[in-house]
Amino acid sequence: MSDDLEAIRAKWLEAATAATSTAELAAVQVGALGKSGEITGLVKQLGQIAPERRKEEGQRRNQLKEAVAAAIEARRARLEAEELEAKLGTDRVDVSLPPAPAPEGRIHPISQTIDEIVAIFGEMGFKVAEGPDIEDDFHNFTALNIPPEHPARQMHDTFYLPERADGTRLVLRTHTSPVQVRTMQATTPPLRIIAPGRTYRCDSDMTHTPMFHQVEGLIVDETTHMGHLKGCIVDFVRAFFQVADLPVRFRPSFFPFTEPSAEVDIGCSRKGGELKLGNYGDWLEIMGCGMVHPKVLEACGIDSKRYQGFAFGMGIERVAMLKYGIPDLRTFFEADLRWLRHYGFLPLDVPSLTGGLSR
Ligand code: DAH
Repeated sequence: MSDDLEAIRAKWLEAATAATSTAELAAVQVGALGKSGEITGLVKQLGQIAPERRKEEGQRRNQLKEAVAAAIEARRARLEAEELEAKLGTDRVDVSLPPAPAPEGRIHPISQTIDEIVAIFGEMGFKVAEGPDIEDDFHNFTALNIPPEHPARQMHDTFYLPERADGTRLVLRTHTSPVQVRTMQATTPPLRIIAPGRTYRCDSDMTHTPMFHQVEGLIVDETTHMGHLKGCIVDFVRAFFQVADLPVRFRPSFFPFTEPSAEVDIGCSRKGGELKLGNYGDWLEIMGCGMVHPKVLEACGIDSKRYQGFAFGMGIERVAMLKYGIPDLRTFFEADLRWLRHYGFLPLDVPSLTGGLSR
């Protein structure tokens, strides 16, 4: 018996050393120590040995098992090191290969435009705020100095939800301005936010869709004045359209929630039916703005004697169409993959002022 064990030991130690690859070695391990391996079998058979010899025989067989296991492990470490060495020696990176194909998915121009707007205002210290799409009358109208029966309510072509038990009706927000109200209610000045998001009006034709996007801006502190408003908007518009000397004009206007109010025009040309941005003598309106009306501050619980600030609101589809030459508003929401492949953006080109807004 002892000679048998010696022979078995020699056989498996030899097999381990002779293995020339980790795959071959794995086969040796299965043969010796696997579930039905030879040495596993020897250990299992201990129960059949006469009790007086069992202890000694048990020790010998376990030693055999450990010796073979150790030899296999030692060989494995060696083979793995050799295989890695060989792989490092032959693997080559072909730097002349073209890069992996561009990913299939595209970022929708609306998402891209929002990301660009956030990147620019982010650099100016604005945080992004959000509010619900379904609003109540107070946040969408009353707090913004648009009382019931105010004509501005008719202008907004509001979608109303069914009447509630108390007789009031929620609305789909007609602009992002209610986020101003929510922000002022929830935080104390100084505050500096932009709020991009979906807005809704009961209107549908070539230039209107029932759902569209706006971005709202709001600064409230003790010192911000109209000069800051102008500087901020001029910087934004020039960064966004990537035209360093783009003419920007502030035209007096009216909004219930700002006083004074202005509309912002940028320089353009419409010659030959083609729209070009730049210093060509013609003007195109792109947003509304003004100094926050004291009544709005007060409705939001802010002391209008101490605090002041400016607000602005801009349609996102409109500036996206202008910037990217997209002719038809309705195509934004048709979910046409060919359109998205043409006008969409690569997912890894994240807009930033330093890295570039769009490519
Ligand atoms: N809420 C306005 C609209 O939907 C846009 C707007 C104009 C927002 C002037 C403002 C602002 O914050 O100051 O037409």
